Amino acid sequence: MRNKIVAGNWKMNLSFNEAQELVDELLDRLEEQEDLKCEVILCPPFPYLELLTDFEFDVQLYNVGAQNCAAYEKGAYTGEVSPSMLKSLDVDYCIVGHSERRKYFNETDAMLAEKVNRLVENEMSPIFCVGELLEERESNRHLEVVRQQVEQGLFHLNAEAFGKVLIAYEPVWAIGTGKTATPDQAQEMHAFIRDLVRKKYGDKVADKIRILYGGSCNAGNATAVFSQPDVDGGLIGGASLKAEDFVSICIQASQL
Ligand code: 13P
Repeated sequence: MRNKIVAGNWKMNLSFNEAQELVDELLDRLEEQEDLKCEVILCPPFPYLELLTDFEFDVQLYNVGAQNCAAYEKGAYTGEVSPSMLKSLDVDYCIVGHSERRKYFNETDAMLAEKVNRLVENEMSPIFCVGELLEERESNRHLEVVRQQVEQGLFHLNAEAFGKVLIAYEPVWAIGTGKTATPDQAQEMHAFIRDLVRKKYGDKVADKIRILYGGSCNAGNATAVFSQPDVDGGLIGGASLKAEDFVSICIQASQL
């Protein structure tokens, strides 16, 4: 039985004060949930990470993730943030290969594989994003595209390192568009990805890996998508900026 995970990707949003307010409201609302069974991961922009990692909890309410990291360990890489720097802030997760980074920052599969390597070397968990463009789905190439992304970004890892990885399936046409994948489309892709993992790493690893869905996931559709057998939760963009909506998604995940 895999516990569900709900991760919030704030992307490049909010002022410092707005981020502080969101954190306060999230804490209030999460604290009210005495028996939340899903794992919550919050991924703010770099300058706000410490807002989230500074708390001492009696009960751990959430984990913290970054949205990106350097492919290098340290040194003369102006403007970059390394996994070991993140780790030293108690950040345990990092989104890698989001389609916005592939598109706007030309991140290649080879570069993403290096980022994954630096993260697992630092005992962090990559949240590795994959997903097809609309034209790739319309020409029925979606499975092949995602297969390549998974293989080239992750399948160089040994089984132990791969055990740290989470995968997020985010069809590009569903991100920020209000057009979510149907539960059947999500299930088809998640089962396909799990099957790839099974063939490469065996049953134990495949049964354990968490595969999240992302793309216009909100409080109104979370239960339908998350109740699919191979969907282990969500990577939430827009709806993660509203505490009420995000916590509603967490509650729904927790009840499945
Ligand atoms: P939206 O939920 O805003 O569609 O974004 C999804 C996403 O890209 C999460 O990483």
